[in-house]
Amino acid sequence: MRDGRPSRTAARVAAHRLRFDRVPAPFGDPGSDELLASDVAEGESSDLDSPMARYLRGRTAFIDATVCATLASGTRQVVAVGSGYDGRALRYAKPGVRWFELDHPDTSRDKRSRLQRLGIQTRDVAYAETDLAKRTLTAALLRTGFDPTVPSLLLCEGVAAYLSIEQLEALLTDLRGLAAAGSLLALTLSAALHTAAQQAARDRLQAAVKAVGEPIANSLTAQAAEPLLAATGWATAPGSEPARHSGFVLAIPGPR
Ligand SMILES: C[S@@+](CC[C@H](N)C(=O)[O-])C[C@H]1O[C@@H](n2cnc3c(N)ncnc32)[C@H](O)[C@@H]1O
Repeated sequence: MRDGRPSRTAARVAAHRLRFDRVPAPFGDPGSDELLASDVAEGESSDLDSPMARYLRGRTAFIDATVCATLASGTRQVVAVGSGYDGRALRYAKPGVRWFELDHPDTSRDKRSRLQRLGIQTRDVAYAETDLAKRTLTAALLRTGFDPTVPSLLLCEGVAAYLSIEQLEALLTDLRGLAAAGSLLALTLSAALHTAAQQAARDRLQAAVKAVGEPIANSLTAQAAEPLLAATGWATAPGSEPARHSGFVLAIPGPR
């Protein structure tokens, strides 16, 4: 992360997501999500035919579907790690559900100042500033009222690639320590590459994010992450194997 500047990669994701179809829900405020994303997207371009856009479309659908299914089953706490300008806490706001958004201080502050300027109500969202390189996540979450005895949905969308393997291991360990029985972890990693065209697209992405000061630190795939997930106390959620080919992981608390 480039100190003193909000995340450009988060702004680019928000710009893309604004143009995707979203999973509908019988609750929430999609308009506020779109207002925030439109504000952030100003000046950002999004080519919907690019491999990156196709990946982001699938990732958005995966996280949307996970959030909607988990909220429908009664989960009352959702944590978004490296939340960027994600507006799901607004889009899928549901009475009785508390959201916790964590991000680097520069991005977290910029998001909150935009929300305030736009007059968007965030009563059910707690914001915590944390630098995942400094291992302050647990303290930051507990300070904002997160209850580790309650089953939670833990979202790590698009953030793992920006962490070293050691930082990712610390993050997964810390989240496991906060995950009551019945919790679910949704973690997005890199898709496996099968062709030269896919490798070329990945090379272009790596160059682009490096140019904005947010270099990719690892390209771990879901399959390669299995030993790390097991070592940090996570087990594959039943039925979630097919999503792993795209780099999307659903895991439940396992033995530690
Ligand atoms: C590609 S963006 C994804 C944002 C969001 N999850 C989404 O899908 O829209 C990556 C996010 O990870 C955050 N991030 C990267 N490194 C971080 C760190 N060391 N500590 C905290 N947040 C970090 C960035 O600030 C950014 O918001």
